[in-house]
Amino acid sequence: MEKIKDSKGKQVTWCLMFCVSTAVISSLQFGYNIGVLNAPDEKVQNFIRNVTQERSGEPMHKSTLTKVWSLTLSIFNVGGMIGSLSVGTLVDKLGRRKCMLLSNILALIGGGLMGLSSMCTSYELIIVGRLVIGAFCGLCTGLTPMYVGEIAPTALRGAFGTLHQLGGVIGILIAQILGLELLLGSQSMWPLLLALTAVPAVLQCVMLIFCPESPRYLLITLNQEEEARQVLTRLRGHSDVEDDIREMKEEALKMSMEKKVSIPELFRNSAYRQPIIIAIILQLSQQLSGINPVMYYSTKIFRYAGITEAVYATIGVGAVNTLFTVISLFLMERAGRRTLHMVGLAGMTVCALLMTISLEILNPIGAKAGSGANMTAIPESVSAGATSPISVLAILAVFGFVASFEMGPGPIPWFIVAELFSQGPRPAAIAVAGCCNWTTSFFVTLFFPELLELLHAYVFIIFLILLIIFFVFTYFRVPETKGRTFEDIASGFSSAVNYTSPEGAVTMPVSSSSKKFQMTEMAG
Ligand code: GLC
Repeated sequence: MEKIKDSKGKQVTWCLMFCVSTAVISSLQFGYNIGVLNAPDEKVQNFIRNVTQERSGEPMHKSTLTKVWSLTLSIFNVGGMIGSLSVGTLVDKLGRRKCMLLSNILALIGGGLMGLSSMCTSYELIIVGRLVIGAFCGLCTGLTPMYVGEIAPTALRGAFGTLHQLGGVIGILIAQILGLELLLGSQSMWPLLLALTAVPAVLQCVMLIFCPESPRYLLITLNQEEEARQVLTRLRGHSDVEDDIREMKEEALKMSMEKKVSIPELFRNSAYRQPIIIAIILQLSQQLSGINPVMYYSTKIFRYAGITEAVYATIGVGAVNTLFTVISLFLMERAGRRTLHMVGLAGMTVCALLMTISLEILNPIGAKAGSGANMTAIPESVSAGATSPISVLAILAVFGFVASFEMGPGPIPWFIVAELFSQGPRPAAIAVAGCCNWTTSFFVTLFFPELLELLHAYVFIIFLILLIIFFVFTYFRVPETKGRTFEDIASGFSSAVNYTSPEGAVTMPVSSSSKKFQMTEMAG
């Protein structure tokens, strides 16, 4: 197999690229389904209203429509919780590859149900379809980072891990663009927009036929050394794969001495307790950073800031989102996960403050008292089209918020869980972390509108405080995983931990090899 680059173990072969590209098609689906209802929301709501009127002969009450709509949006997260929690059991029974293949059945069913909703005059099909596609996406957010992490060379695991988030943000951007009225976001075309998620599913199934099973699964879980060696030879582009094999065998040996790791075991066993807490808090830092309120409400924020074609500014958010994920991909193996996560959280904190200040100046809370106005109501000065310096500040703050998110809090939580655990506990840990992510996303999506109504622009202060807490946690508790083998990272947690040293550096004695590694390892 031809190699594209081979320096310091950074082998990228066509086979590896093909496998990773195949896996991240699921990430694209994940992002697509996050963004797909943003643009055509009014059309789909009209459809729900019309169907109800046709059935009962009476117009649908506004509050009922709001409830049905928020159910349509949030049920996606419920599906995600179910899917992500099932990953652990499925991947060990079926293997990574077969699991990815079979999960696409859910994408076909979900896409089909949503696509048929208009023809069958049933909005319930959209709701059930969103639940099914959510379950599919929940599986994907566990499966893709796991498969990619297990086939990537150690030196490139972070950069490849970022590809899951890159696939996601590209998916969001595609959904935003295709959702424009002149493309598929029109009155007649939106069912096709929703059904389109089935196309990548078919493509991935075809491509998966040519992808090998994860060599780690073959050797460590199935004890098939020869098969693992053959797959590694294909992935690395040469037959000198002894280092990988040796590392996996060490892990297999360790695993054979442990009993199977269940979810409760992750919390009971002191060796896993610390990494699982880190994994969970990193998921919380992603969802409680306030990213999704900004993603969902950016159009309203831009309208409020005086942009007449706010939907295009929202596409701008998608573009910034994508650009900065690409930048973080290139920085991941240089700066390291921990540094980038802190840089991202710090940037988001500053931008949250700027968003609060600028939006509050545009519509002071005092002026709203008793007037019934809220942040989503556009004041006359701005709706006249005058883009003031404060409006520009609000827009830049939103862009900066999203850009900072993609530097670290966006991509890192998704792939770092696979890095923090060895083969035995990895599936259970990915299931727990994924489920926490989806559950938090569900609650934030559910409660944000009410908090916004109550606190107006000050709602971002809540996220600001949480961002500071997550920054401090990352500084003191999250180890650097860049360039280290799974075994090395995992063994770091199984020994006594000493987080404070006189130099301020955080050191941990490593049990198996009695090496020491620095948890504050920064760039380089
Ligand atoms: C991450 C989050 C998701 C969010 C997206 C935005 O993938 O998990 O909730 O919408 O980033 O880019």
